[in-house]
Amino acid sequence: MEKKHTRGSFTGSIGFVLAAAGSAVGLGNIWRFPYLAAKDGGGTFILVYIVLALTFGFTVLTTDIAIGRKTGQSPLVAYGKIHPGWNGLGLLASIVPVVILPYYCSIGGWVLKYLSVFLTGHGTAAAEDGYFTGYITGTWQPIVWLGIYLFLTAFVVYRGVNKGIENYSKILMPILLILIIGISIFSLTLTHTDADGVVRTGMKIYLVPNFKGMTLQKFFTVFVDALGQLFFSISVAMGIMVAYGSYVKKETNLMKSINQIEIFDTIVALLAGLMIVPAVFTFMGTEGMSAGPGLMFVSLPKVFQSMGAAGGVIGTIFFLMVSFAAITSSVSVMESIVSCMIDKFHISRKKSTVIVTV
Ligand code: PFF
Repeated sequence: MEKKHTRGSFTGSIGFVLAAAGSAVGLGNIWRFPYLAAKDGGGTFILVYIVLALTFGFTVLTTDIAIGRKTGQSPLVAYGKIHPGWNGLGLLASIVPVVILPYYCSIGGWVLKYLSVFLTGHGTAAAEDGYFTGYITGTWQPIVWLGIYLFLTAFVVYRGVNKGIENYSKILMPILLILIIGISIFSLTLTHTDADGVVRTGMKIYLVPNFKGMTLQKFFTVFVDALGQLFFSISVAMGIMVAYGSYVKKETNLMKSINQIEIFDTIVALLAGLMIVPAVFTFMGTEGMSAGPGLMFVSLPKVFQSMGAAGGVIGTIFFLMVSFAAITSSVSVMESIVSCMIDKFHISRKKSTVIVTV
């Protein structure tokens, strides 16, 4: 995105798909999607999400990437180049990552904290009721972990080694996917016994839409949650995909690549939900479904605990992979702010990374 330098480009469509998927797949898929799905009635949320992904998702992702490819510019300039009246859109899109970065780092900090807990063999403590609330209501710990996460993200951007990180994600992303599938299968073997003695799994709640008691107001909430989640998850309307688009060669088949990015992103989200939501139902019943942002952190340690001796190791690997997936995303968020500052104020990468971090 630095205009002074020659713009690089992805060597092939695979490089582009992997880079864009690295930005797209992150906490949005693994942490945010499952808690929204649980809160908004499982299958109903999923149905609305899939319809929106197939319509809005493909359209906005294609538009973002196409604007980038056509203009070959960073988002700050690209919109204005398509139409002079659209300059403001570029500015607006560039501000979104500024809002997202602190939010993302807070949750990234939670993941690092849980990684350290599992790494030091205290996974069973994390499975106890009240552990998560105790942690997030603490005064200093969440701030310290946020700081560590922010520092890691800033380090990658400061050194300009994003490409190196993306290379790792080629190996780590498939491992994460296999892990999520394995944990999902295990989660589905867990059952919940109702008050009347009926044994149930949470699979049905998660996958089958239930419109009983649906009001217009409730539907509106589900719709807005799903739409917001979609934009967040595929990283659109915030300049990032415009930037990736500007590196795509003219010969690359855009539609094919876009299909791959969106399908992969949606599959990871659906699987993460499968790993978390039925388990929440098993351990906490229907009341647990509205637990909100803590859902993954409350339910997964319980799943790992019920795996017995292997649970500690699997939990450690899981939180390690999630940390990587999160960092590849937050790096793309910070990179977008840093490169806009480089373009706009003509300052060095190092200086603008320090300013953004502070
Ligand atoms: N799409 C990423 C996720 O689902 O975790 C988060 C994200 C990355 C949001 C980049 C916004 C962004 F610009």
